[in-house]
Order: sequence, then structure tokens, then C-alpha cells
Amino acid sequence: MLVDPYESGFYDYRYKPSANGYFKDAKPKSKSDLIEYDFDRSGTLKVPGDWNTQSDQLFFYEGTIWYRKSFDYERRPNTRLFVYFGAANYFADVYLNGEKIGQHEGGFTPFNFEITKLVRDTGNSLIVKVDNKRRRDAVPTLMTDWWNYGGLTRHVKLVETPATFVHDYFIQLQKGSRNRVSGWVKLDGDKHNQKITVRIPEAGISKSFTTDASGSAAIDFTADLKLWSPENLKLYDVAIEAETDQVRDQIGFRSIETKGTDILLNGRPIFLRGVCIHEEAPLRGGRAYSREDALTLLGWAKELGANFVRLAHYPHNEFIVREADRMGIMVWSEIPVYWTILWENRATFENARNQLTEMIARDKNRAAVVIWSVANETPLGDARLSFLKNLISHARSLDSTRLMSAAMERHYTDQTTQMIDDPLGEYLDVLGCNEYVGWYDGLPEKADRLEWKSKYEKPLVMSEFGGDALYGHHGDPLTRWTEEYQENLYQHQLNMLKKIPFLRGTAPWILTDFRSPRRPLPGIQDYWNRKGLISNRGEKKKAFYVMQQYYREFNAEGVR
Ligand code: GCU
Repeated sequence: MLVDPYESGFYDYRYKPSANGYFKDAKPKSKSDLIEYDFDRSGTLKVPGDWNTQSDQLFFYEGTIWYRKSFDYERRPNTRLFVYFGAANYFADVYLNGEKIGQHEGGFTPFNFEITKLVRDTGNSLIVKVDNKRRRDAVPTLMTDWWNYGGLTRHVKLVETPATFVHDYFIQLQKGSRNRVSGWVKLDGDKHNQKITVRIPEAGISKSFTTDASGSAAIDFTADLKLWSPENLKLYDVAIEAETDQVRDQIGFRSIETKGTDILLNGRPIFLRGVCIHEEAPLRGGRAYSREDALTLLGWAKELGANFVRLAHYPHNEFIVREADRMGIMVWSEIPVYWTILWENRATFENARNQLTEMIARDKNRAAVVIWSVANETPLGDARLSFLKNLISHARSLDSTRLMSAAMERHYTDQTTQMIDDPLGEYLDVLGCNEYVGWYDGLPEKADRLEWKSKYEKPLVMSEFGGDALYGHHGDPLTRWTEEYQENLYQHQLNMLKKIPFLRGTAPWILTDFRSPRRPLPGIQDYWNRKGLISNRGEKKKAFYVMQQYYREFNAEGVR
């Protein structure tokens, strides 16, 4: 790796893109040759992993780092080869053997490039320039309350496929149905017209379809399936067999809808007993990326009594979504349209829409994912409204089976009345609302006096509430930063929440403490947001047990 704060491996001294940048991975050919970089004699970084927690020098670093991976690869005949990235924060330029193969913007969704024609049997040089510099027109924009962990934060893989392969598929229950499976399969390659068969052996399903001239086939059949839910973790082995390729997946089938102010899972009303999670690695800090990280975080959520997690504020790694499928935990997944982005900027919109497309593409077959969220705490305004409306209709065009939401803000109509009437609510299925009564807004007991109203006959998920406490810091219930203050705040919060007639879910902020550059208070925060119910060392705070007790009051169906 090469740390390149001035991007001198990309631009020349006139700040023009250089034809001879570090992507050439050049070596001096003679003693007089002038080459001013050398990957072989530069440091290394682990992939997957953010760079900030791998070296003290890089802790605050925001800029460009070049990664280089040398590899040999003997490709089998009639196959194709792709390089796949789980994510790269934030902007990635990718080169193979000195050739640019592509670029990607957005730090939390997967992307891949075909390298069939460029790969050699030996001595390949894969180079990735990763730049996590924040930009005003980016998504997210300049200000966030999480650490801007940079780098190749998720797995990088080589993927070999047949010449014509199963590129993508969407197999879920049709909206509102509990026995009609519908979706599609898409082939990529020359052999477009093929017979494909969808098999679900355990359900005695074997249905054949034919792909059209573009390699696509619509899937539609009825089946008697056991439905996935937190109480019934049913995942089926599903095989998609084409003449030239076959893929297997584990898919759960469930329906998710709203009716008035109710959320219905498989036709029955549920309460989303949730908690918010940032993709902060448990116990060690840094960007989480592994299956073990996911199991630890979801394990703590289960211990809390949760059947739902809000993955904030960006798509998390695939492990956590797949483990949620296996553990029966419903998921809210969100793109980082966070606070005040450039609503009128076309490129910003395209970027947000692309991240939404990629989020849905990766997780559309996960039964656990029940809600797509397009935004968090965004300010009212016409440009913002049309931006988000367009994102919502785009998401619905890609996936009509799930619920749309966003974390909105509320306002007082008088001293004691909270109103949810953000015009965005009109376009959502589930209202999300963040409130910090007792932390940013008054003291904990203020919650006792508040009544909640909504302009919409729709279910509400309180998508954030809570306050900071440093684990082991004790005092009286009105002393900030103590466990007793946080405990007190939660007790008053839950009394208030229980009185909201259209409340159908809660997701306190947040499961564990997480790093934020906006939290410098020495001896208390030290660049950690301390609103976790669990500390960054895995220690449960008093408020954890208040929330756990509240969730214990719910019966199996998740209804109190
Ligand atoms: C906000 C925001 C979070 C933030 C939290 C806090 O509501 O959505 O990203 O971390 O409040 O202030 O702790």
C-alpha cells in the first residue's frame, strides 16, 4: 500500500490525470530510470479492513491510499473472470496490469469488473486507488456522526463463471401473497435462450421457464411453503439451473405489509422489537466485516430481546443480513442520505439512486430484510421531498415486496404535543421518527408529559431515542454521562412510548458505543458516541436491562 495524500500517483504537477501513475506498478528498468514509488518496499494493509485502525498514523487519515495485489491465475477454457469488491470506502479507481478496469462511488455496496480479457496466467498486478475524502456533493456528505473508516473494508474476491452464467435472480413471494412465488432470472453471456429450472426440493418444487433474447425469464408459480418469521427460521435450499450454469441459495419466504397502523408479517400484526446498529466491530473497533462480527452483534441484539435491527445509516456487510435470515431477525436497511446533502445536484441524486439500486440488488432475496430506508434526519424542503420521492419510486420499481421508510424528524405543535407530519410520510409505508427527549431535548422526565400525534394512518417505528453513558461511570439519575442517567432516561422513554397508539416498533440508539469524530469529550467520549446500551468493550450498561425488560413484556408473536 501507498499513502498518497496529494494524489501524486494519479495527477501530474498540473493536477491533470497522469498517464504514468502508480497504477502502472512500474519498476526501474535501468540504474538511470526514475521511478519514485515502489509497492514492494512500501507497507501493507490487511484486506478486508479499514486503514484507520490498522495504524496510529492513519487513525485520522482521510485521503488516498493505493493498494496493490499481485497474483497468478490460470483461467479454465470457456470461462470468464471477475474481480468482486464487497465495498470500498469511498471512491475506488481499479486497474489491472496498468489498465483502468473501472471505478465505483459509495462506500457500502458491492461492485465488480470483468477481467477475462486482461488477466494473465502469471504476474498480474491489481491496483486499487481508494479515496475516502469527504465531499459536499457526496452521499454521505461532509458531516456524519460516524467515523469515516477508509479502505477496502470488505472482502475482495476473484469470481470465475461459465461463458454464459446466471447473473442475477429475484425469488420472493408476490406482494400480499403467502403462496405465490414470483420474480425473475437473468443470464449474462451469448447463450441467451435457455431452459432454466427453479428447484425447491424440500417443497417438491421444480418449475421450468425459458429465457428470452435478452437472457431474462419471469418466474411465477404457486407453492405451499413454510413461512419465515422470527419464530420460524425457515430457509429453503433453492437451485436455479440453466443449461450452462447453476446457482444455489438459501431463501426464506414471508410476506410483509401494512394495514392502517399495523405491520403484518405473514398476515399477522407484529411489533418490531428493535435496536439500531452501526457497523462498528464489536470489542476491537473499526469497520466490522466478518461473520463473527455479525454473530456477536446479532447475538447481543437477541439477548436484548430484539426481533428487528435497524442497520444505520448505510448498507452493512452481507454477513449480517444473511445471519439475520438464519437467526430470525428482521432488518431495516438504509442508504446514507444523511442530514443535509445537496438535494438539487443531479450527480448527487444519481449517486444516491445507484447506492439504493446496489443495496436492493444484493439483499433482495433475504427474507430478513423487511424495510428499505432512503434517508435519515433530512431537512424539510421541496428539493429534498422530490429527491426522496424519486428514490422511493425507484426502489418500488425494483422491489414491490418490501416496505419503504425513512427516519424523519418531528416537531412540537404545543408544549406537550409531538407531531409527525413531514410531507415525506405520504410516500412511506412505515413512518420512522428519531427523537431525543431527555438528552438533546430536556431532561428524562419530560417524556412523561408528551403526547404523540401523526398526520398519517400509518405504523410508526421510533427509529432512534436514547442518551449517552460511559460504562462504569456512576452517579445520580440526573448526572449526565452516568449509567443512572441513561437508565432513568430509558424508563421515562418507555413510559411515553407505551402510550403511542400507532407505535409498531422501537429501535433505540444504539446497541454498542461507536466511534465518531464529533465526540471529543476527554475521559468520557474520547471520540466514541456513548449512546450504546453496551460499551465498546462489550459491557452491558444499566439501560440495557431496562430495554430487555420492556421486550420481555411482549409475547411470542411480538405483540404486547
Ligand atoms: C442522530 C443521528 C445519529 C447520531 C445520533 C446522536 O439522530 O441520526 O446518526 O449518532 O443522533 O446524536 O447520537
